[in-house]
Amino acid sequence: MADLNHFLDLSDAGGDAIAAMIADALDRKAARKVWPKGKVDADKPLDGRVLAMIFEKSSTRTRVSFDIAIRQLGGSSLILDTATSQLGRGETIADTARVLSRMCDAIMIRTDDHAKIEEMAKFATVPVINGLTDRSHPCQIVADLLTLAEHGKPLPGLELAWFGDGNNVLHSVLEAAGLFKFNLRIATPAGYEPEDEFVQMARAGGAVVELTQDAQAAASGADVLVTDTWISMGQDDAAEKRAAMMPYQVNADLMRAAKNDAIFLHCLPAHVGDEVSEDVFESAASVVFDEAENRIHAQKSVLLWAFGQLAAG
Ligand code: CP
Ligand code: NVA
Repeated sequence: MADLNHFLDLSDAGGDAIAAMIADALDRKAARKVWPKGKVDADKPLDGRVLAMIFEKSSTRTRVSFDIAIRQLGGSSLILDTATSQLGRGETIADTARVLSRMCDAIMIRTDDHAKIEEMAKFATVPVINGLTDRSHPCQIVADLLTLAEHGKPLPGLELAWFGDGNNVLHSVLEAAGLFKFNLRIATPAGYEPEDEFVQMARAGGAVVELTQDAQAAASGADVLVTDTWISMGQDDAAEKRAAMMPYQVNADLMRAAKNDAIFLHCLPAHVGDEVSEDVFESAASVVFDEAENRIHAQKSVLLWAFGQLAAG
């Protein structure tokens, strides 16, 4: 089990392997630029491999990008959800992990409690990939790092500003900041900060992380502005939380405070009018659909790493 390349969080791969993922994703994306999306990459690196995808929460991008990613690498996928699998009737994660390991070559799971994915990794004898938990969303951040590379935003010295909820996506941004030493300003209302463990991890890695309740200060001079939904899947849609979040909407005022060539990222789905104003979402600075497409290219690299077919560094 210790030899398996589980990808539960970015640190499971580490900075060198993630850098290799980004490089490979750029190469593979360029090589198939004008190809139909279902055509298999020339080298078919995952020929015959089957990816099981388990969704205990909704998904559009993660579901489609992993499906297309494994197809482009020469493999195939299948989907299980809680409603129609025995997971919904109480079959344990441990047994599900052992059964799927006999039938499939890797498992991607989107679930709520991070402990479930740790349990899956403990019992699986094939690689397990985190497709989002309440704690983190590492695959999204590989796509985000790829998007930054494509848009000419080198990570050392980068000033990235996060606005709104201190959530699962931010936790993975913090992990990336520690691995790649970019600077992160986090503007949240009081009580909605990220978990301190992730802040400490980023700082221990050498990132400069500032927590503030002042959105304008966080935006000032930033290279990249990032936000996400105020209400993550599984959370109560509380009026009190929405009211607290409103000053953290990424809007034209915040964009004006940033650098002239600043870009806007959002993992999507977006709630335009809440965490981002329509003018910013639809502006030239918004690269959210590049970011969404990059889920495919990033997921291919994650899969290749999980299958031991991507050398680090
Ligand atoms: N960004 C993201 O993970 O999107 P989905 O919820 O649609 O998978
Ligand atoms: N923070 C969001 C991300 C969705 C991709 C959620 O967990 O719902």
